[in-house]
Amino acid sequence: MERAWARATPLWLGAMETRTPRGLLLLFLFLPLLPPRGASAGSLHSPGLSECFQVNGADYRGHQNRTGPREAGRPCLFWDQTQQHSYSSASDPQGRWGLGPHNFCRNPDGDVQPWCYVAETEEGIYWRYCDIPTCHMPGYLGCFVDSGAPPALSGPSGTSTKLTVQVCLRFCRMKGYQLAGVEAGYACFCGSESDLDRGRPAPATDCDQICFGHPGQLCGGDGRLGIYEVSVGSCQGNWTAPQGVVYSPDFPDEYGPDRNCSWALSPPGAALELTFRLFELADPRDRLELRDAASGSLLLPSTQEGA
Ligand SMILES: *[C@@H]1O[C@H](CO)[C@@H](O)[C@H](O)[C@H]1NC(C)=O
Ligand SMILES: *[C@@H]1O[C@H](CO)[C@@H](O)[C@H](O)[C@H]1NC(C)=O
Ligand SMILES: *[C@@H]1O[C@H](CO)[C@@H](O)[C@H](O)[C@H]1NC(C)=O
Repeated sequence: MERAWARATPLWLGAMETRTPRGLLLLFLFLPLLPPRGASAGSLHSPGLSECFQVNGADYRGHQNRTGPREAGRPCLFWDQTQQHSYSSASDPQGRWGLGPHNFCRNPDGDVQPWCYVAETEEGIYWRYCDIPTCHMPGYLGCFVDSGAPPALSGPSGTSTKLTVQVCLRFCRMKGYQLAGVEAGYACFCGSESDLDRGRPAPATDCDQICFGHPGQLCGGDGRLGIYEVSVGSCQGNWTAPQGVVYSPDFPDEYGPDRNCSWALSPPGAALELTFRLFELADPRDRLELRDAASGSLLLPSTQEGA
């Protein structure tokens, strides 16, 4: 089996995804406390939070170089020695997909999870999936079995031939549920945290169906729910946890024009650290601002790409 180019994966950028086709999007982060200058106590950023911010680990840049245990734990081939295949460091000269003179697992083609080429196996398959425990998008709870009777998520549901992950998230957010699950490419189910207690996890690779409304996204599988917290891609929120991740509005969909979204960050402690893992503003009119909640004064002015 040879790999074919599937699709581009949208970029996640620290707080937001860009690619706005037009118009003005303003994102505000309100900080309740001014970080004390020069103080580093109470840092809220944990580098160990996750190595991936996309469900399929397209942004994984870690160092795992073996296939998963289900794939017999084979050593990965170096990407600069796989020119006979579709993906090699030669096919990624800018390093956009993280390929290079190494043998770390990567996901250059929008597959379900990171993978790598291996030396020929008995079935003549040249690539295998890697299982990377540290590669889990915050807010994506995983792939779960849905036998249908009773449904794994007990709330309202719907189907759409234009289903995207965010269409389902928005539906469940509006209905006041905490969880949203996409299934079979076109179905959406809402649920509560308590539904998860009897949830039966399925292998990540079972959730491999393309969303009917977006060829670049995955919407569960046959009898398999991909379950998200509804805060993912919301346009507002109150963050009070010691650490967290803010996604761009409508993530993993692209955001529309003329949005003005704000989040209030009030974690415990006196200092706040913001990290932008990936940050790109495609439209020069898009802005990210950080303001002190009490005074409204600007802490970090309008950001530009790469800031
Ligand atoms: C995998 O990476 C580790 C270090 O990260 C290295 O020690 C090991 O030799 C590598 N294995 C292979 C098969 O390249
Ligand atoms: C956030 O908290 C403030 C004060 O507690 C409240 O007024 C506001 O409505 C909350 N916003 C959201 C989006 O929950
Ligand atoms: C965006 O929203 C914030 C907070 O609600 C507000 O202070 C600001 O004036 C708004 N900006 C625009 C251009 O609508």
